[in-house]
Amino acid sequence: MDKVRIAMIGAGGMANAVHYPSLAEMDDVEFAGICDLDPERLASTADRYGIDARFSDYRTMIEQTAPDAVYAIMPPHHVFDVAAWCLQQKQNLFIEKPPAVNAFQTRSLAAWAEQSGVKTMVAFNRRFIPVLVRAKELVCQRGEIIQCQASFLKNHLGGGPYYGGAIDILSCDAVHAVDALRWMGGEVAALASVVASYHLPFASAFNAVMRFESGATGVLQTNWSVGKRVHTFELHAAGISAFVDGNGDARIYTDNSEEPRVLVNTEVAGSTEFAHYYGYFAENRHFVDCIKSGRHPMPDLADAAKTMELVERIYASVI
Ligand SMILES: NC(=O)c1ccc[n+]([C@@H]2O[C@H](COP(=O)([O-])OP(=O)(O)OC[C@H]3O[C@@H](n4cnc5c(N)ncnc54)[C@H](O)[C@@H]3O)[C@@H](O)[C@H]2O)c1
Repeated sequence: MDKVRIAMIGAGGMANAVHYPSLAEMDDVEFAGICDLDPERLASTADRYGIDARFSDYRTMIEQTAPDAVYAIMPPHHVFDVAAWCLQQKQNLFIEKPPAVNAFQTRSLAAWAEQSGVKTMVAFNRRFIPVLVRAKELVCQRGEIIQCQASFLKNHLGGGPYYGGAIDILSCDAVHAVDALRWMGGEVAALASVVASYHLPFASAFNAVMRFESGATGVLQTNWSVGKRVHTFELHAAGISAFVDGNGDARIYTDNSEEPRVLVNTEVAGSTEFAHYYGYFAENRHFVDCIKSGRHPMPDLADAAKTMELVERIYASVI
């Protein structure tokens, strides 16, 4: 396959911010068609990327363009029917996080993917942030991770519930930190959590301590009622600790060193473009490479279902 032909459903904010530009950079990708319900978004995105095959109905687009893969980039409460239909048509599928509103819907999509024998990917981009990937490699070179932390803080004070209340903050957004913990620590054997509402009329803080099956300890710290957006990760193994800010740098301390080894995210990514240093280009590249080579993308829908199940365990394990 010289060129991977991709049909795009959705020309909204996230797709335009990172997915269209990332795919457009790749010489081995071609947009087979574009679809959006909103005519202005459809026209402006199609014009920007020079896509002639324009549709308001995704079924018509896929039947007429017969793509190698489909992207469906839309809010979690809108994506299920679209994704399920694409999977039933045996289309390889890339979707954003969260893959659905809950674990049940995600498992249903994973089952359709399994039945159709197609490749799927859910865009948990933190797993692809170059400086975080590099820090994890360096820590794991020293030994098994024994402790890790994912912290995701935002100031959402005065804001409403996500998508008018269609989905909770933990499932929709703080889920990034939950998925990062699984990526760093593996599957969770046991956990205890605190879920709280601070100065907002819905749950805004989700904190947990967990024991991984490996024996390592994981800490989740998320709160949407605090000073500003700060999203950081810690990874520790015997004699090494990495403190990572995907928007900034990684500081790595070994053997009581006073001065850290500093990895700057834009240098590790080789780019000052947000889509590159925050993992979006790399996740798109991974999916395209898997379509070309026949390899299985990760995280796929089945793996994403485990992250959504962990979200539900956090709600079910409140102390
Ligand atoms: N990974 C990240 O860091 C990150 C950041 C922000 C958002 N997201 C995720 O990206 C996803 C999309 O969010 P967004 O803010 O870009 O949404 P959006 O509302 O801006 O865009 C969605 C687009 O899909 C179109 N659409 C909806 N249903 C359709 C259908 N049946 N057929 C054709 N078009 C349809 C809408 O008209 C809209 O233009 C969400 O799941 C969100 O959680 C991820």
